[in-house]
Amino acid sequence: MANSLHRPAWSQAIAEPAAEFPLTSLKILAGTIPEQLRGTLYRNGPGRLQRGGQQAGHWFDGDGAVLAVHFSETGATATYRYVQTAGYQQESAADAYLFPNYGMTAPGPFWNSWGKDPKNAANTSVLPLPDKLLALWEGGHPHALDLHDLRTLGGDRLSGLTKKAPYSAHPKIDCGTGKIYNFGVELGLQTKINLYQSDETGKIQQQGQIPLSEPSIIHDFSLAGPYLVLLVPPVRLNLLRILAGFSCFSGSATWKPELGTEIIIVDAHSLTPIARAETDPWYQWHFANGYGAGEEIVIEIVRYSDFPTTNQNLDEISHGYLKTPALGLLWRLRLDARTGKLLEQSQICDRACEFPVVPRHQVGQSWRNTYMTVHRDNREAEGELFGAIGRYDRQTEQLILADMGEGCYPSEPIFAPAAAYSEEGWILTVVYDGNQNRSELRIYDARLETELCRLELPRVIPHSFHGAWKPA
Ligand SMILES: [Fe+2]
Repeated sequence: MANSLHRPAWSQAIAEPAAEFPLTSLKILAGTIPEQLRGTLYRNGPGRLQRGGQQAGHWFDGDGAVLAVHFSETGATATYRYVQTAGYQQESAADAYLFPNYGMTAPGPFWNSWGKDPKNAANTSVLPLPDKLLALWEGGHPHALDLHDLRTLGGDRLSGLTKKAPYSAHPKIDCGTGKIYNFGVELGLQTKINLYQSDETGKIQQQGQIPLSEPSIIHDFSLAGPYLVLLVPPVRLNLLRILAGFSCFSGSATWKPELGTEIIIVDAHSLTPIARAETDPWYQWHFANGYGAGEEIVIEIVRYSDFPTTNQNLDEISHGYLKTPALGLLWRLRLDARTGKLLEQSQICDRACEFPVVPRHQVGQSWRNTYMTVHRDNREAEGELFGAIGRYDRQTEQLILADMGEGCYPSEPIFAPAAAYSEEGWILTVVYDGNQNRSELRIYDARLETELCRLELPRVIPHSFHGAWKPA
């Protein structure tokens, strides 16, 4: 199928496994690095989608590779390294895929998957801590990396994760207290959502649990003032088929709109559920943010009409083409904190988007700007990836666009504040320029009005998922 379709410019970035590079000074292509920009941008994503002549099953199955770009008084340096998980090392040695994963069973007969846990792809996001960087993947434990050179230090249970307890890739930090909140879906005879609260070093201090009647896919959640909000989509996994090796996670997922979306409100202080309620069916990967307002909660999410379409869309990306458009749109939900009931819902922006980001100090609080990747004008249905970044201003209800140009593809825009608790600062995005087959880092002002600097990265960085900024 893929070969019969026109190969878009973005597909070159993932046509072959990405090459690592050691700490390298970056050349300035245009502009100047902002004088006060000091710290490190980290990004994680699938670095390779092929092994030994085989293709990974889904974009989510690619082996995680992390980019670090350090900004200091001497300029910008970058390095790019694969996360050396045990599964990555075994597959590297064999030069073959060996393990089941989200979108693939273990190669060979179905019994090859028996007794094998999925490979930890370590490919989804990063969490910079004072003395280490965590590479995160929602099906397993974090891996710790060196903050400077990104060498893998090993799996990390954060002094509290049990052997089979995953730690999801979208932790939320309460900037006021430094507490880190996260969850993990532990699949089994009794599937449950484990809740975690860590101190600012990452050490788990408190845990909670929410039983689920059936296994589902929960990718993200929201901190909203004194609450955590989880949305359980009407996707159900057939664990028996997965364990038997008949199906992978993606292949066993069934869309059951009749079940609706379950809203779960959790007291962030005690990590105990306050309310569970049901509402309309939809699917979301990502939450932009949330806040508590008296007895109400406001959250904003990137919402899809269903799961199969967006899952198929993301699968196609890894094969270098897109024929299934999946439009994620920014929605605002108003919830009753006591009952979990949905009080009001509205689509607030008509441009298809993903990877919503808010300034770190406003996570869990009322905020003004949501940054995200968006499509260029009228390009949603043309087999294109996102070609622009946007700032949705919640006060003026306007979307301000920074278009990357024809054949250029941004990653999630990351906010680097000029000072702690400041909305002033810069937006950083790693861009793949398909015209020149190279990757760049572009730096914008926080209003997205001006491109300030463009730095050349030494090698192509494949399209990635999530990143974070660590101030110096
Ligand atoms: Fe994500």
